[in-house]
Parts: sequence; C-alpha cells; structure tokens
Amino acid sequence: MTGGQLNQDGGRQAHAPVMLAEVLEALAPRDGGIYIDGTFGRGGYSRAILAAAATQVFGIDRDPEAASEAATLERDAGGRFDFRQGRFSDMEQLVPEHGGAIAGIALDLGLSSPQIDQAERGFSFRQDGPLDMRMERSGPSAADAVNGLPEKELADILWRYGEERRSRAVAAAIVAARREGPIETTGALADIVRSVVKPARDGIDPATRSFQGLRIYVNDELGELERGLAAAERMLAPRGRLAVVSFHSLEDRVVKRFLQAHSGRAPKASRHQPLAETERPPSFDLITRSARRPSERECQANPRARSARLRAAERSEAAAWPGDTA
Ligand SMILES: C[S@@+](CC[C@H](N)C(=O)[O-])C[C@H]1O[C@@H](n2cnc3c(N)ncnc32)[C@H](O)[C@@H]1O
Repeated sequence: MTGGQLNQDGGRQAHAPVMLAEVLEALAPRDGGIYIDGTFGRGGYSRAILAAAATQVFGIDRDPEAASEAATLERDAGGRFDFRQGRFSDMEQLVPEHGGAIAGIALDLGLSSPQIDQAERGFSFRQDGPLDMRMERSGPSAADAVNGLPEKELADILWRYGEERRSRAVAAAIVAARREGPIETTGALADIVRSVVKPARDGIDPATRSFQGLRIYVNDELGELERGLAAAERMLAPRGRLAVVSFHSLEDRVVKRFLQAHSGRAPKASRHQPLAETERPPSFDLITRSARRPSERECQANPRARSARLRAAERSEAAAWPGDTA
C-alpha cells in the first residue's frame, strides 16, 4: 500500500495533533522506513506518518484507552501499523524486532485531549472527578500521594514539578485538610489550593501549577522522558530522526539538554559535566537549533497548542552514549 491511500484522519472524527506539519517535516517519512510513534494518543501522528509515505509504524501508549483507537488503525492500515501498549522508555522491549533500525521516532508529550476532558480520569481542576491522574490506570494515584505523603515531600513535588512558589503553604493546607478526612476529588484539591494561592493577574487558575506537579510526579513523566530519549538514541538507525514536542519548560529543558549534549553543543565549562562527555563523538546532529513554536494560526485554532515546542535531531553514525550521560 502506498502512503497516499490512507487519509491522515482515516475518515474518522478529526483530532488536532499539535505541530503535525512541523513534526512531519522533521521526520521526513520515507518509503520502506520503520517509525515509532511513542505517544499514540488518538493516532494523529501515526496516521500522518502512514499517509506520508509507504512506511511501517509502531504506536506505543501507556494508556490502555488508546488501544481501541489503535485497533481501528490496525484494521485501516493493512498490516502497516502495530500497537504496543506500554511506556516509550520501554520501546526496546516493546519493538524488539527493529532495534537499531528505526527511521524515525516521534514523542508528543503530556496528555491527550480525551484524557484532559474526561472528568473521571482526574486530571482536570475544571471538572470535578476522582483524584486519579494515572495515565496507565494502575499504580499509586494522585489521591494516594495527596493523602499519604509527608508534608515536606508534597511541598518538594509542588515546588520541583509544579514550580509553585507557594508550595509549602499548599502542602500545609493539604495536610490540615486531610486530618478532617481523605481528599478524594479534583474539586476538593483545587479548592484547598485556591484557599492559599491567590489568583494571578493573567487569569490562570491558582490550581494549575499544583495539578501539573502532582501529575508529573504520579506518572514519573520526567524520568520517563530521560529514559525514553536514551532508548530512542539506541533504537534509531544512522540518519534516523527524532522529533519531540513538549508542553512545559521542565520537559523542554530535559530535551534541550539531552540534544545539546549528544550533538556536542553542551556548554563546555560545566563543573558537573563528566570529562568523557566532551570527548565522545556526537550521536545526534541537530535539525532544530532552537525550539520551533506552533504558528499563530494553529494556536488560534487549537489553544492547547500554545505552549508547544518542537525539537528535532538526526542520529549520526556514532555509537549511542552510555546511559549515565543522558
Ligand atoms: C499529547 S498525547 C499524543 C497525541 C497524539 N500525537 C495524537 O496525535 O493523537 C500524549 C499521549 O502520550 C501518552 N504518553 C505520555 N507519556 C507516555 C509514556 N511515557 N509512554 C507511553 N505513552 C505516553 C499519553 O497517554 C497520551 O495518550
């Protein structure tokens, strides 16, 4: 089957994959290439990679709910698409048959619109739902963290992953509230945060940062990203391409540092930089020197795209770096 025979949305309800044109430009899908869409979601990128050329695509998502959309695409794509449920950091185990031979890998980080919009997933402070936030629907939930962690640890999470300046006050308010009974809903948590964090002039809800911090913690999103980048480096063939779309500065910083270091562009004077790092042959060449942003047109059509940043790089011939230098 040629790429052109498959519509980008397969004729189904259109989603709004963020920076799709820019991601495709960075990946430059080619006939015969094998691609990994590490964050399948609703399959917007996978469909587009399948439509762009006679490619083979493996979709990965840690959310079991992605599986039904993926099953539809498996049917539509006539043997060119396979879904593997799991984490992108495990891509070597999930797609073992093509290790080191992948032509391109896309990561579109964070949450899909259905995850945000379904109150029962517990990600949203705009709608009341159970305090869950688990992409995988297993393991400890946000409620477990909020009701069980020591105050100091809660404050650290809100500070580090939420960049909440009032992290200590929020943690103290959580601990005071849970003495009265467990905090079980997103609405209850949002009200506790709002009781100690004043609304900002820009209109952003005071609960935004705390919810982000908890979500990143519950899903170990930054650890996943670091391990995922290192796995992608090992999976890509020489001249294979990596495209990563991130949605907040913590994620973007991880991607930027990884690509700068592995392309030989990291600032040299760092005391923390292992000496060997500067001597290692670069495993990537940068495609984007600085992060690309979505067009104003895309931001107007899809406000969720506003914070997106794309970084892309091409794998060199050099061996992948050992894991400790990511
Ligand atoms: C922004 S959405 C991707 C949307 C997708 N590009 C599309 O066009 O429909 C992010 C998806 O990645 C998944 N995800 C996030 N972190 C993951 C990880 N570490 N491993 C696998 N999937 C992950 C989420 O469950 C979510 O479905």
